[in-house]
Amino acid sequence: MSVVILGIESSCDDTSAAIIKDQVMLSNVIASQAVHESYGGVVPELASRAHQQNIIPVVHEALKRANISKEEISAIAFTNGPGLIGSLLVGNSFTKGLSLSLGIPMIEVNHLQAHVLAHFIKQSTEDNNQPSFPFLCLLVSGGNSQIILVKSYKEMEIIGQTIDDAAGEAFDKCAKVMGLPYPGGPHVDRLAKEGDPKAFTFHKPQIKGFDYSFSGLKTSFLYLVRDRLAENPNFIEENRANLCASIQRTVIEILMDKLRKAAKEYNIKDIAVAGGVSANSGLRQAFEEHASKYKWNIHIPPFSFTTDNAAMVAITGYYKYFDKDFAPIETAPYSRVNM
Ligand code: KG4
Repeated sequence: MSVVILGIESSCDDTSAAIIKDQVMLSNVIASQAVHESYGGVVPELASRAHQQNIIPVVHEALKRANISKEEISAIAFTNGPGLIGSLLVGNSFTKGLSLSLGIPMIEVNHLQAHVLAHFIKQSTEDNNQPSFPFLCLLVSGGNSQIILVKSYKEMEIIGQTIDDAAGEAFDKCAKVMGLPYPGGPHVDRLAKEGDPKAFTFHKPQIKGFDYSFSGLKTSFLYLVRDRLAENPNFIEENRANLCASIQRTVIEILMDKLRKAAKEYNIKDIAVAGGVSANSGLRQAFEEHASKYKWNIHIPPFSFTTDNAAMVAITGYYKYFDKDFAPIETAPYSRVNM
């Protein structure tokens, strides 16, 4: 019999619902919240309220696009953390209500594991380009920068992570210094295409092992801009593309240096990337270059799976379903956790 999973994602500022049937994605609806743009960051209270408004229409739409009735759903998978508590509570409470009314199990999903398992979503029955275990996954988003050793669908070990800012945060904070809108990552990516990546040099951290640090880079960027602005008030306008290209090159070098080191130490050739920053064109190109130079089998997600989405939650729930790894009704969301 077919297994149909409804996935629900509400950990930050995207309300999403998806249907996965036997590993194949039938729908993946995402309502992004424009309300935060004018604040330069996500406002938790506004995010919770928007989730509350969006969740029912988004689930309706996901069922409609998948041509699946509520009665066909085998279980509901929902993100229970890490994330913003008020946002998570909306998905958690909605799932409890729907699972009780339909008499089906609910499955709690760790948001970070879901990003990693996004690589196993099939877009059609013929789609088979999936990583082989064990593989390394570089998880880079607005809140995380980690190298994860993925041993199986269930067993994942964080072998390196940021000790301060995340890579996405570095992009966003540098973008803010240049007066670009939030989130700045995609704007830096776009402008970097027209700039010289060697125009400016920034501080690169010296951290042991596979851990990352991006706060020094952000400070180095801030000081350079401040000093140059003192000499030339038009410095940012005249150098925006070069600044973007240089900061992007530095972030990518920092990410890839550690990933290469980890791949060598663990002798792994299957290398994946996940999270919002995996949309970055420079990072994708660096993966391609490493694939040909170091004979890596690389796994880069389609753009629709780079940012927060419920299809990745549904696929994680799909694997947990076979272990009967169901959540109790009293389960509560968590804001921070390791895998
Ligand atoms: O995984 P994600 O959607 O969610 C959070 O962690 O909240 O990641 C969002 C992050 C933001 O920091 C955003 O600036 C960054 O991903 N991002 C990018 C690009 N697209 C999104 N950073 C660099 N280049 C991009 N093209």
